[in-house]
Amino acid sequence: MELMLDTVNLEAITRWVGKVEVSGVTSNPTIIKKEGKVNFFKHMNTIRDMIGNERSLHVQVVADDFQGMIKDAEMIVDRIDDNVYVKVPINEEGIKAIRELKRRHFNVTATAVYTTFQAYLAIEAAVDYIAPYYNRMENFNINPQDVISKASLDIANHNSQTKILAASFKNIAQINAAVENGAHSVTVGSDVLDQAFSFPAISKAVADFKEDWRSCYGIDNIHAIEG
Ligand code: G3P
Repeated sequence: MELMLDTVNLEAITRWVGKVEVSGVTSNPTIIKKEGKVNFFKHMNTIRDMIGNERSLHVQVVADDFQGMIKDAEMIVDRIDDNVYVKVPINEEGIKAIRELKRRHFNVTATAVYTTFQAYLAIEAAVDYIAPYYNRMENFNINPQDVISKASLDIANHNSQTKILAASFKNIAQINAAVENGAHSVTVGSDVLDQAFSFPAISKAVADFKEDWRSCYGIDNIHAIEG
């Protein structure tokens, strides 16, 4: 499983990149808004410097017509770098833009995927990643596991290089289910990663181990043992 961070918060990126294997950082206008009106390209270039070129950076177009999406994509690549994955929503204009961007060898992440049909169109267009919105699908009574597993099957049937980058998670169970149904990658907010490690039983087990050690040796670690 490739794990990406669905945040542009610099502290959160520093925190998690230093702790878990992070494959990339994903963003969209809503995620950027959470940081306030940052200097957009400066911020994105700072993230690139933080994560290096070996991790992927996904930046979304905002224009909603074909020409505008292409211009947004060109500017994103021009002002950040050409390793960036340009995120484009799969709607009527977006699929046209996606095909044009792939013809021009941009890295493309097709986003706002709620249906299997959108996934099939994006796979056929040979995008690099498709981003199914797990929790948002559940909110609409769409079965995200079904969408992800059918996209996964389509990728296998066509020997496609497209990867499924599942997104929009509110809890760890959703992440597990996405991976178990064929997602190659998941992008996760810092709050959801927090949940992964804040399970009270984990803290209790660690505290019990520490207490047993302390009551036996009178110290808090191994490296203070003398002799
Ligand atoms: O990466 C897409 C994702 O950010 C959407 O998540 O939490 O707005 O449903 P959410």
